[in-house]
Amino acid sequence: MNLVDLWLTRSLSMCLLFQSFVLMILCFHSASMCPKGCLCSHLGGLNVSCSNANLKEIPKDLPPDTTLLYLDSNQITSIPNEIFKDLHQLKVLNLSKNIIESIDEHAFKGVEESLQTLDLSDNRIKTVHKNTFNNLRARARIANNPWHCDCTLQQVLKTMVSNHESANSVICKTSVLEEHTGRSFLKADADLCNLPKKTTDYAMLVTMFGWFTMVISYVVYYVRQNQEDARRHLEYLKSLPSKQRKPDEADDISTVV
Ligand SMILES: *[C@@H]1O[C@H](CO)[C@@H](O)[C@H](O)[C@H]1NC(C)=O
Ligand SMILES: *[C@@H]1O[C@H](CO)[C@@H](O)[C@H](O)[C@H]1NC(C)=O
Repeated sequence: MNLVDLWLTRSLSMCLLFQSFVLMILCFHSASMCPKGCLCSHLGGLNVSCSNANLKEIPKDLPPDTTLLYLDSNQITSIPNEIFKDLHQLKVLNLSKNIIESIDEHAFKGVEESLQTLDLSDNRIKTVHKNTFNNLRARARIANNPWHCDCTLQQVLKTMVSNHESANSVICKTSVLEEHTGRSFLKADADLCNLPKKTTDYAMLVTMFGWFTMVISYVVYYVRQNQEDARRHLEYLKSLPSKQRKPDEADDISTVV
C-alpha cells in the first residue's frame, strides 16, 4: 500500500512538473514567435521582416516587442482598426508596394507616439478617414497612390503639417476640381472645403432669382388686370346717362383741345 502511494504521489508531482514545463515552453515560444513567412532578428530591437511573403493581410500574431516591421511587397488590401495596438515599441512600419485600398479610422491606434517612419507609398489608397493620421508623429510616405483630392484629403494633409515632403508628393488622380487632376495637391491653392458652400450659395441665388421673377410677374399681371378693370369701370361710368356730367364733359373737351 505504502509503496503504491509513494509511487502515485511521485508520478503525480512528476506529471505536474512536466505539465508546467510544457506550459512554460509554450508561453516562451508564443512570446517571441515569428509570424509565418517572416524573418525575425534582434538588432537593437526586434526586426520583423515579412517583405515579399505573399501576405494577403497583416499578421495578427506580431510579437509585442516588434520595433521594425517590414510588410512591403505583399498583397495586403487593408489596415484594420487597432491592428498594431500592442506594438508599443514599433518605430518603423513599411507597408509600401501592397494593394491597400482601405485604412480604418483607428488603424494606427497605439503606435501614434512611438512610430517614426510610416511607408504607405505604392498602394491603391484613394482616400482615408480624416482622423486616420491624427496624433501620428511619424514621417509618412504616401506617394504613388491614386488619391482623390477633396475636402477630406485637405483636412488629412493639414493634420500632417510636419510632413511637408509627403503632402508635396500627393498627386491627384481624381479631384472635385476638374483642373486638379494629375497635379500635385499643394500646387492647387483652392480651398476644397469651401466648394460645397459655394454651390449652396449659388443654389440660393438661383432660388431667390426665381422667387423674385415670380413676384414681379405677379405684380405685372395684377397691375394689368386692374387697368383692365379700371378701364371697364370708366367706360361703364361714361355710358351712364347723367346731366350732371356735362361740365365734366366740357372739361374733358377743353383738355383734349
Ligand atoms: C531587418 O531584417 C531584414 C531581413 O533580415 C534586413 O534586410 C534588414 O536590413 C534589417 N533591418 C535593420 C534595420 O536591421
Ligand atoms: C519600404 O520598402 C520599399 C520596398 O521594398 C523600399 O523601397 C522603401 O525604401 C522602404 N521604406 C522605408 C522607409 O524603409
